[in-house]
Amino acid sequence: MNQHLRPEPVPFIDLAAQRRRLGNSVDQAISRVLAHCQFINGPEVTQLEAALAAFSGARHVVSCASGTDALLMVLMAKGIGPGDAVICPSFTFCATGEVVALLGATPVFVDVDAATFNIDVTALEGGVALAKKQGLKPKAIIVVDLFGQPADHDAIAAVAAAENLFVLDDAAQSFGASYKGRRLGTFGLATATSFFPAKPLGCFGDGGAIFTDDDELADTLRSIRVHGQGSDKYDNVRLGLTARLDTMQAAILIEKLKIFEHEITARDKVAQRYARGLGNVVSVPRLASGCSSVWAQYTIRLPDGTDRDGFAAALKAQGIPTAIYYTRSMHQQTAYRDFPVADGGLPVSEALSDDVISLPMHAYLDEPTQDRIIRAVRGAIST
Ligand SMILES: Cc1ncc(COP(=O)(O)O)c(C=O)c1O
Repeated sequence: MNQHLRPEPVPFIDLAAQRRRLGNSVDQAISRVLAHCQFINGPEVTQLEAALAAFSGARHVVSCASGTDALLMVLMAKGIGPGDAVICPSFTFCATGEVVALLGATPVFVDVDAATFNIDVTALEGGVALAKKQGLKPKAIIVVDLFGQPADHDAIAAVAAAENLFVLDDAAQSFGASYKGRRLGTFGLATATSFFPAKPLGCFGDGGAIFTDDDELADTLRSIRVHGQGSDKYDNVRLGLTARLDTMQAAILIEKLKIFEHEITARDKVAQRYARGLGNVVSVPRLASGCSSVWAQYTIRLPDGTDRDGFAAALKAQGIPTAIYYTRSMHQQTAYRDFPVADGGLPVSEALSDDVISLPMHAYLDEPTQDRIIRAVRGAIST
């Protein structure tokens, strides 16, 4: 193809545009860290934790090295181990169930809801029953707020209370979203999030945080974060990790948090425009009542019989990238296929893995570019 006729490529996530919006504030924040040299446990770490607590309404924020560590640390703090079962959705990023298996416990996979892609509350009891039938002790539910949208936290809390389970909210993709007017970070026993660069609130490396209102849990998490340290630095009182968020990432996040509200609003506008432009040709995401989303992904479902690879190729030819989250649910992956699966199968998760595809989504997606994407999707569907 003639080089000059090749369409301008559209970024899937435009971190460069965000850098321009931030001006030199991030550069200055990094320079401050370079000047004080407290690269671990510098003052920015506690400043960030306070800012995140104010933003989310959670009593304690314990920053850490990744979203995966955030999940793992909560399970470690609660003593989850062999013989325990943790109920998880299967249609999620692998870290959700991985942390359970890493501790020698058993993830029990349940299905998700076809409209919201979040855990199917009616499937929870089946997961608990299956765990008991296999001689396991059901201890917790890991709820995922997938693609930026909160799960049905009230309904999940009711099942958890009835079954005496604690809830760990995996908000890796959804920090900033709210459920019935309350920001994520205050549902269940604890909430874990990720600051991976592509997340709605991302740093420039790996990072994560745990939110909880439980004082004792917060203390334990702070100990686990540093090798299980006790009050004496050289008396380690439990097993732990090296799971601190480094000061540089905290300094970057402080600056990014200042524009986060604005970015959430901008992402929401993009999502609404996509829905108007595409709602009559593909299945567009549906927000459950009382929920707002931070649109970590804008994931559509293609009509029955659409050749998804052909659709992606048609968009790619026009410079428009797509991604598939997730081509396989957890129970379909090699490392996880021997773990229990509720109700004998997870038809919704499997169907989603076959027909979802995500479109470019970020706060800096301008209207002409969005129109280009909408036109390309409509064209690819009708051919
Ligand atoms: C649902 C979910 N949970 C956990 C994680 C793990 O986060 P991290 O990559 O920061 O370890 C991710 C990251 O993509 C995720 O999407």
